Amino acid sequence: MHNIVNVTDKVYWIGANDRKTERFENYMPLPMGVAYNSYVLVDEKTCLIDTVEFGVEGLFMEKLEEALDGRDLDYIIVNHMEPDHSGALRDVMKKYPNAQIVGNNKTFPMIKAFFHDADESKFFVIKEGDILDLGHHKLTFAMVPMVHWPESMVTYDTTEKILFSNDAFGSFGALNGGIFDDEVNFDHYEDEMRRYYSNIVGKYGMQVQNAIKKLGGLEIKYICPSHGILWRSDVAKVIRHFDYWSRLEPEAEGVVIVYGSMYGNTAKMANAIATELGKQGIKEVKVYDASKTDHSFIISDIWKYKGLIIGSCSHNNAVYPKVQPLLHKLQNYTLKNRYLGIFGNMMWSGGGVRGIEAFSDALNGLEVIADPVEAKGNPTKEDYEKLELIAQRMAEKLKEDRA
Ligand code: FEO
Repeated sequence: MHNIVNVTDKVYWIGANDRKTERFENYMPLPMGVAYNSYVLVDEKTCLIDTVEFGVEGLFMEKLEEALDGRDLDYIIVNHMEPDHSGALRDVMKKYPNAQIVGNNKTFPMIKAFFHDADESKFFVIKEGDILDLGHHKLTFAMVPMVHWPESMVTYDTTEKILFSNDAFGSFGALNGGIFDDEVNFDHYEDEMRRYYSNIVGKYGMQVQNAIKKLGGLEIKYICPSHGILWRSDVAKVIRHFDYWSRLEPEAEGVVIVYGSMYGNTAKMANAIATELGKQGIKEVKVYDASKTDHSFIISDIWKYKGLIIGSCSHNNAVYPKVQPLLHKLQNYTLKNRYLGIFGNMMWSGGGVRGIEAFSDALNGLEVIADPVEAKGNPTKEDYEKLELIAQRMAEKLKEDRA
């Protein structure tokens, strides 16, 4: 079979790599592409688990047909109705009209909403713990609401201990060659996995924790997510990553400095802080101009590092328009467990620093490590000294944590 990979003897990966779509959910850049993973089990009964996004369904339908090798399709399991996994569902339903559509009671209203002509007589409602008997393989289901939508569930093959985890344990990045964790260099995927986690399910840390607790009791030999690499050699590794990301625990000593600057003065201030952090021995310092770098990359690094320093010039008495949406998103994700530094620039009424302070006050889990610094126009010698103090306090806090 071409372009189809065995997960086990009769379980096939028939996913599609998408290197053409510019932005996931039409707003997050995909420089490394994305994979939509789909699986077929060929047993006494045949079963498809999830489909792929609109736009790559052509190759996917060919692979499905090849994997079935002339057989009809008995079941289509819909773990999640977001169109990156259900885009090709209508095509599959039309080509295999005898197939029963397997989902939970929240799945089917969504199927009807997306595909008005779906045949309701084929809907097969399951609930948590039910068994779907394919012959040799016995599948069961666990609900994982809000990982990533209310109807999200995972499918577990009790026979071969395979967890089809859908969005949980997924990653951005198309699959380039090998598809299993032992066939690829994880370093090439790690940043994209964190960017996927923090931006897609970052808001639902508690629900991810609940899912990990629920699935933790299972014996798992394979994790087959709906995006990115499959896990078979070290399944604990991907669970570990999702565990601390969902607890909003930083994973490295380092600092993100993100700023918005119209005429360069706030940028000067950011550079002064970064330079002092370097002098203080902090090796991982990421400086981002919020007007230039897509926020999904900045958020991923904020997830990674313990230190966060935010700067904004004032714009119409408020935070600069390219910084404000980032604050909004971090507030929406209830960011915590971070040291925070604040700086900015003003000319008459201010608003940039004030807005960042309001953001900090709205969250419980940020520790402001020094007095905010707000310069007027070109920073003075005194301003620079105060900015360096932010960097020094940040470095002290990070070094204390080493102990
Ligand atoms: Fe990969 Fe929530 O869809």
